[in-house]
Amino acid sequence: MKAGLTSADVKTGGIVLNSLHKRYGRATAVDSVSLTISPGEFVSLLGPSGSGKTTTLMMIAGFELPDSGQILLDDKDITRLPPHRRELGVIFQNYALFPHMTVAENVAYPLRMRRMPKAEIETRVHRVLDQVHLTALASRYPHQMSGGQQQRVAIARAMVFEPPVLLLDEPLGALDRKLRQHLRNEIRTLHKEVGKTMIYVTHDQDEALAMSDRIAVMHEGRIRQVCAPQDIYRRPADLFVASFVGEVNLIPVKLRSGVLQGPGGEDLAAAHGLEADMDATLCVRPEHLRLDKAVANPRGVQGRIVDMTFIGDATIVEFRTEYGLQLMSKVLNVSAETLPGIGDACVASWVANDASVLKE
Ligand SMILES: Nc1ncnc2c1ncn2[C@@H]1O[C@H](COP(=O)(O)OP(=O)(O)OP(=O)(O)O)[C@@H](O)[C@H]1O
Ligand SMILES: [Mg+2]
Repeated sequence: MKAGLTSADVKTGGIVLNSLHKRYGRATAVDSVSLTISPGEFVSLLGPSGSGKTTTLMMIAGFELPDSGQILLDDKDITRLPPHRRELGVIFQNYALFPHMTVAENVAYPLRMRRMPKAEIETRVHRVLDQVHLTALASRYPHQMSGGQQQRVAIARAMVFEPPVLLLDEPLGALDRKLRQHLRNEIRTLHKEVGKTMIYVTHDQDEALAMSDRIAVMHEGRIRQVCAPQDIYRRPADLFVASFVGEVNLIPVKLRSGVLQGPGGEDLAAAHGLEADMDATLCVRPEHLRLDKAVANPRGVQGRIVDMTFIGDATIVEFRTEYGLQLMSKVLNVSAETLPGIGDACVASWVANDASVLKE
């Protein structure tokens, strides 16, 4: 312990995953996954179906054993410890409350299993129900509550024995969009209030972007990138991350004699950090792709508007270059006057710093 720190200052809930591997038969589910999570951090595992998110979480929880690799909780090796001795709170997508128990009884259950004294159970259940704003519903049964309320009970039940880490596997998957948004804010607030480490599995990029301190993007069992949401979005490490997180325009480019050439050989002016003669892919988000009337901007990629879709706060403008590359621009509907129309000749351009270069 560092000088000047008392034991109360030392935060718990640090997780280290060291080169985890897991196969089912001949198929690799998790492949060399390494990740260090700080005490109190909110980390999302984000990836498409089958990318190994649940398997990774189950290995942390102890319901699956890795074939190789190591899991540390606060520097202690827990790789082969049975789940109940890890003291981690786990919340699944199908929250499976006990139907014959009230909310308070459901939440008390883990404490009763631990044979905690009755008075202590009551105090703790009271406290945790207050934290998830369910005190008023304490004596209801699961079937008398909405899906969102039931999910909050599941969260309370996982928190009640005060584990240093909460593991959440798509906890909002079964709920409608509005409720998901509402509950994700609640979970985020709860995270700030209780300061526990949370590892949150989702395939919903908006959820991961909105909630996480850091996102680990998974694909085919591997972590492709782990960064703060802004960096995942602005500086994706590869084509998979660029396309999976957010909408993106992928523009094939080449650097020849110091000039960045677009797909039709256009001079795109800014070198975007490319050095030698090379081929690459430029990744430009739709909100960064600017469309101007052809005459206004002689540099950039020439083409025509082929479609426009009004989506409320913005309009999605589909643009096809002279060479057949389809690009997308997202224009906020702050004023209608600047929008060109379908069929108009335009030039697409962007600020170099808003594009990332992927050399694959
Ligand atoms: N018990 C199992 N037996 C055999 N294969 C399994 C088992 N569990 C998972 N797998 C396989 O391992 C891979 C990773 O599965 P996993 O459940 O971790 O994916 P996931 O990222 O959680 O996907 P989803 O978003 O669909 O929940 C998949 O190819 C899956 O079919
Ligand atoms: Mg899963």
